Amino acid sequence: MKELILKDKVAVITGGSRGLGLAIAQTYARAGAKVIIASRTLRTVTQAVDSLRASGYQADGLACDVADMNQVEALAQHAIQTFGRIDIWVNNAGLSAPYGPTVHIPSGDFLSVINTNIIGTYNGSVVAMKYFLAQKSGKLINLLGRGDTGAIAMQNAYTSSKVWVRNFTKALAKEYKNSGVDIFGFNPGLVKTEMLSNVHAMKGYEDQMNPLRFIAMLWGNEANVPAEKALWLASSATDGKSGLMVTVLTTQMMILRLLGLPFRKLLNQSTELLELNVTSVESAVTGD
Ligand SMILES: NC(=O)c1ccc[n+]([C@@H]2O[C@H](COP(=O)([O-])OP(=O)(O)OC[C@H]3O[C@@H](n4cnc5c(N)ncnc54)[C@H](OP(=O)(O)O)[C@@H]3O)[C@@H](O)[C@H]2O)c1
Repeated sequence: MKELILKDKVAVITGGSRGLGLAIAQTYARAGAKVIIASRTLRTVTQAVDSLRASGYQADGLACDVADMNQVEALAQHAIQTFGRIDIWVNNAGLSAPYGPTVHIPSGDFLSVINTNIIGTYNGSVVAMKYFLAQKSGKLINLLGRGDTGAIAMQNAYTSSKVWVRNFTKALAKEYKNSGVDIFGFNPGLVKTEMLSNVHAMKGYEDQMNPLRFIAMLWGNEANVPAEKALWLASSATDGKSGLMVTVLTTQMMILRLLGLPFRKLLNQSTELLELNVTSVESAVTGD
């Protein structure tokens, strides 16, 4: 049996109702943590909590839109009322906008990404840090993503939001260097979740999504792979390592997977292309 490296720790995971967030919740719970998950949809939060409890884990959840500070504060209160404390906070909730040129993206879609990825990370970080600083311990993990070190055309809302998360997280780690709180950025690489397989594209740009089927087959991971890395980040192995920006899909790994492409079948690795569902979105520019 594996060592319970998060025994009795309490972890809050936003966006924990599905995808990577749920995989992180399962992995933390398996390692002995009590987990609180949250997302905007009560039904899916309840389903995820039920599935965790059915596996014998201590879990609870709340419907919470991370874009709303009051709801994030209520989430922290709920964690404390339910399990007595908070040791780990993962700002995992994330959204992406339709693929396409910035001016054509409906502003509501663009702003939803900003509100979730930027404002949501700010809200979660501030609320968690208040508790962590008072108890002089804690692990704050902020989810990075594609484009977090650069600028990527056609995915401006998402990638620029992740650049922001990266810099925000680094600044926070510098400010609270010797506080006992460890603050990390975490880029999980390509993860086979709804975010990857259920995409939106502006009308006329749908075909540009096709390479994603192959890219995800080659470089995508099931969510349990990055979740294991997130477990390491949350564990005592990273005590005092605040400021780390951890990336699952390194350049070296990308090259190795590319070179290994002809041998995938021999290595028992899947050669199935990603099943991609592309929803077409009307342009916000009239007369287009
Ligand atoms: N999948 C990838 O390839 C990949 C790559 C790099 C980074 N990431 C990052 O990993 C994180 C998780 O992504 P994923 O692939 O697991 O996505 P996902 O399958 O789409 O799940 C996103 C989760 O976030 C929740 N959520 C969205 N907006 C929210 C809000 N405003 N407030 C609270 N919860 C919200 C969703 O539930 P509701 O809709 O019910 O709210 C859902 O539980 C994101 O930060 C993403 O940017 C993913």
